[in-house]
Amino acid sequence: MSTAADDVREANRGMFSSRRVFILAAIGSAVGLGNIWRFPYVAYENGGGAFMLPYLVALFTAGIPFLFLEYALGHKYRGSAPLSFARLSRGTEGLGWWQVGVCFMIAVYYAVVIAWALSYAFFSFGRTWGDDPDAYFFGDYLQAGDPGVSLDFVPGIILPLLAVWGALIVVMALGVQKGVGRTSVIFIPVLLLAFVALVIQALTLTGASAGLDALFAPNWSALGDPAVWAAAYGQIFFSLSIGFGIMITYSSYVKRRTDMTGSAMVVGLSNSGFEILAGIGVFAALGFMAQASGVAVGEVATSGIGLAFVAFPAIVNEAPAGALLGFLFFFSLVLAGFTSLVSVLEVVISAVRDKFETSRLRATLVVTIPCAIISLVGFSTTSGIYVLDIVDHFINRFGILLVAVVSMLVVAWVVRGLPQLRDHLNRDGSVPVRGWWIVLMSVITPVVLGYVLITELLAVLDETYGDYPGWMVLVFGWLAALLVLVAGFLLARIPWRPDTPVHGQEREEA
Ligand code: ALA
Repeated sequence: MSTAADDVREANRGMFSSRRVFILAAIGSAVGLGNIWRFPYVAYENGGGAFMLPYLVALFTAGIPFLFLEYALGHKYRGSAPLSFARLSRGTEGLGWWQVGVCFMIAVYYAVVIAWALSYAFFSFGRTWGDDPDAYFFGDYLQAGDPGVSLDFVPGIILPLLAVWGALIVVMALGVQKGVGRTSVIFIPVLLLAFVALVIQALTLTGASAGLDALFAPNWSALGDPAVWAAAYGQIFFSLSIGFGIMITYSSYVKRRTDMTGSAMVVGLSNSGFEILAGIGVFAALGFMAQASGVAVGEVATSGIGLAFVAFPAIVNEAPAGALLGFLFFFSLVLAGFTSLVSVLEVVISAVRDKFETSRLRATLVVTIPCAIISLVGFSTTSGIYVLDIVDHFINRFGILLVAVVSMLVVAWVVRGLPQLRDHLNRDGSVPVRGWWIVLMSVITPVVLGYVLITELLAVLDETYGDYPGWMVLVFGWLAALLVLVAGFLLARIPWRPDTPVHGQEREEA
């Protein structure tokens, strides 16, 4: 039974007011830059229409089952990632802090991309980037020098970055329901409207159908390539925001006796629905661009920074009502990115609050001010883009995916906690969780993800990532990934306050 003291403690931590708010916040976290700028190209490059098969297999055998696991941990143990793990078994707390470290790293650079997108949303109206968006982005806007470390600040990035951090501090300080929950309740419908308008506009452009053909034409032979399956698993983990500790944190704010498995299905399917919509919008626009330039779609197709800040401005230059198309695209990036970033920061703030029993405002400032400073010093300089690219590459693979595999193995084989988590899910869940889930989480998914990780490891060991100087990859790639791991396990050594029950001290749940 939960006691009155538990209820007071929970109210102090913060709660989502309803399951609907929780689902919108979880969708807000999942739908992010990964959906808009990563999925379309990953699908195109890995078999087009045929990619749907590994993608759906990854979604249903790994993504949603792992979402169940994270929901069960947070909802049953009612804590941030470190507290939930500490309550599962005291020795596993470091896994939660490792996730906190990963989120800290992601927050500092994810904010920078949102700041660029914010600038570009305004630039769309005057097509500020001129006739050569590539030269403008890397030259005039980022003022990128040679790879290395510089302290030459770029004023054009500092201002939007300050605006992004200012907005984040306000939202995070407002708390779980008024800040995180309400932001998603407002932003997600607006994002959907803006994005549907973008897709409709893109579909009316000449050449759109050639873009869609390029995206969806199935290349069935790709299915025999293990790299295609690896790409599907990698995409699902990043896109669903799993392995970050986000879903553990968010589900700890959900009222007891809630259908968590049904919620996971809604979140997983909405995220994939948005992803496919993004594929249609982006490739319709790329089809137009290919036709306007008289080249094949494959020659203009790209992803990430190149798609958003080089290819899209070029499309805006050519398209009828291009300013609107550009604004909708960059505005969508800002909204989708912001709600994801809020969730990433919440992992860190929630952990600090639980461990040090500090006020929401103080925890927000203690977390966001150092993040904002690192973000400004590290990424608004003429070398920021290179550091960002390296940190992003390494932290995704040797942060998120690695911690996901390790946590699955530890929960399944060391703590043997899957049966109790399954029972928790089944108590109020609308999707029955049976032995298949235990087999997936303890054997199949760790094996597949282990394979993905080993492939990635061999690839980066074989060839220095991205032709950067070796020391940059060492410091911002390997050392950054190692630092979050070591810091995580050191933080786990700090004792909990006496009035925060952890494993062996908790009361029976309601
Ligand atoms: N899930 C978020 C994204 O796709 C992190 O960008």
